[in-house]
Amino acid sequence: MSIDVSEIGPIPAAWTRRHLLGLEDLSVEELNLILDAAEMFKEATGGCTQKIPVLTGRTCANLFFENSTRTRTSFSLAMRRLGGDTVDFTASSSSTSKGETTLDTARNIEAMGVQVVVCRHRTPGTPHLLSKNLNCSVINAGDGAHEHPTQGLLDILTIRQKRGSIAGQTVALVGDIQFSRTARSNIWGLKKLGAHVIVCGPATLVSPLWRELGVEVSHNLDEILPRCDVLNLLRIQFERQSTRPFPSVREYAHLYSMNRERLEKTKGNVLVLAPGPINRGVEIATDVADGPHSAILEQVTNGLAVRMAVLWLVCGASARELE
Ligand code: NCD
Repeated sequence: MSIDVSEIGPIPAAWTRRHLLGLEDLSVEELNLILDAAEMFKEATGGCTQKIPVLTGRTCANLFFENSTRTRTSFSLAMRRLGGDTVDFTASSSSTSKGETTLDTARNIEAMGVQVVVCRHRTPGTPHLLSKNLNCSVINAGDGAHEHPTQGLLDILTIRQKRGSIAGQTVALVGDIQFSRTARSNIWGLKKLGAHVIVCGPATLVSPLWRELGVEVSHNLDEILPRCDVLNLLRIQFERQSTRPFPSVREYAHLYSMNRERLEKTKGNVLVLAPGPINRGVEIATDVADGPHSAILEQVTNGLAVRMAVLWLVCGASARELE
């Protein structure tokens, strides 16, 4: 089923960005504008299940140089729900293995007439480089350990929906803060919207320097649990580490895994989030991941709504520039 596009007006005048590269640069107004647009799309499309063809005739290319399940699939689905087309690029089966640079690859994809490039790359700054050298819109889908703006937004949208507001919430990001792009995007977005943010994990993955961003630093999960409204459990990014940050996964799980005993130390209505993929028995126990506090699958649905909103906004800003 398709919804009448007249229900959706033009993009708000306050949105002027052709690219979405991170949450660090966004104003509070811009953050709220994306969250409001995501909610509007979610509602108008019956929980993102129906089409609303506001981007008919536009094409989005997913340029993923790193693995992805949720992010790539939801960008593809979001573009199709908006009536546009998508094309998927996977590094392992492409000419990058023949020596082509990332920028040349992107320029060739753009030459096929795409209006949006969604880029995931292990090197921080790659989407920024593309945005300076391509004419189309660029969306960062994760650049190394730097930022993952749509993940930050979908986490924040889930908190807003469950708690009514971000301001005043105490949100703990638990686990691998050092190598997690989700952590950085969460910190920028949550702080701007008035949350108290605690970063918690082993000292090898949570430096005291994080305090400079205005967050609380803790190495003791059990101690902070009674104060937290939200726990966002981050995966250990082994693929980005050159040395092991702790003696064994078992020891890490003993100190930081969110399990049923630890739930008993929380406020009782604590909200449990995880960006996925989750490692059951490491950062989260199965009974917590699948239990009543968990909003992990709602995060995935909200990811679709956030990506619909972002695609609509950046395409609208691009079209306005060409007028
Ligand atoms: C995150 C990522 O790729 O940074 N996953 C995601 O996009 N859903 C987090 C992770 O891989 O741990």
